[in-house]
Amino acid sequence: MNRLFTEAGSADIVVERLAECGDPRFREVMESAIRHLHAFVKDVQPTVEEWARAIEFLTATGQMCDDRRQEWVLASDVLGVSMLVETLNNRAEDGSTEATVLGPFHVDGAPQLEFGSNICRDAKGMPCHVSGRVTDVDGVPLPGASVDIWQTNADGYYDVQQPEVQPEMNLRGRFLTDPDGRYAFRTIKPVSYPVPTDGPVGDILSRMGRHAWRPAHIHFIVSKPGYRRLVTHIFAHNDPYIDSDAVFGVKDSLLVEFREHDDDARAHDLGVASPFCTAEFDIRLTRQP
Ligand SMILES: [Fe+2]
Repeated sequence: MNRLFTEAGSADIVVERLAECGDPRFREVMESAIRHLHAFVKDVQPTVEEWARAIEFLTATGQMCDDRRQEWVLASDVLGVSMLVETLNNRAEDGSTEATVLGPFHVDGAPQLEFGSNICRDAKGMPCHVSGRVTDVDGVPLPGASVDIWQTNADGYYDVQQPEVQPEMNLRGRFLTDPDGRYAFRTIKPVSYPVPTDGPVGDILSRMGRHAWRPAHIHFIVSKPGYRRLVTHIFAHNDPYIDSDAVFGVKDSLLVEFREHDDDARAHDLGVASPFCTAEFDIRLTRQP
């Protein structure tokens, strides 16, 4: 027979109703969720009005989501939970390149481009040449690895945020490493940008006294059969938001110098206009367990 509800036993009483749950993992997850949620409510002691506002926030967050906008991912990101899940699942203990959050702006099916191609299709921003090498954790080159790249334009928006303004697939491309494991592409120097603040997550960010900015970065997904798929970014090491990324994505090992040059001869060799910048980033993939 089920026990009646009491304040002191509230979590136990709800957890006891999981007795018929046939899925052990689901039961484990639900028991933990119920216990933490009850402990949270007992800690905070919300008024009825405050709890109604919490429900309104959850409702508004769901209602903000559509094909192009994922407010729940944003909520998870700004509360540090996306980064925690990523970190728990990708401990780079063997010297492989560290992972960071995927974020909501990756698009499947970016065009596959030749080594060294330019992914900037709106002719804005400072030209930038990015290159490096993909190896295994022992430094053995990995030819034919896929390097999928995306970033914002010089105004700080992804193409999917401005479908009427930016060319389709602006600042996106997929490259294959050459026989020495090398990749290279031309793009623009990345800029810092704010996460979207026109929804309920923007409201809680400002109520917490936090800014919405992410330090300048370029997104990478690097993959090769037999190796663990790496989702990461490279960050401009001297960005003013490097210590206060709104989504906690920065790791020391992912800081890169975007070095500026004013050198017509080198610009010509790299196929860019001067002044321009360069960045190098080597990637080490770990074998699939
Ligand atoms: Fe981003």
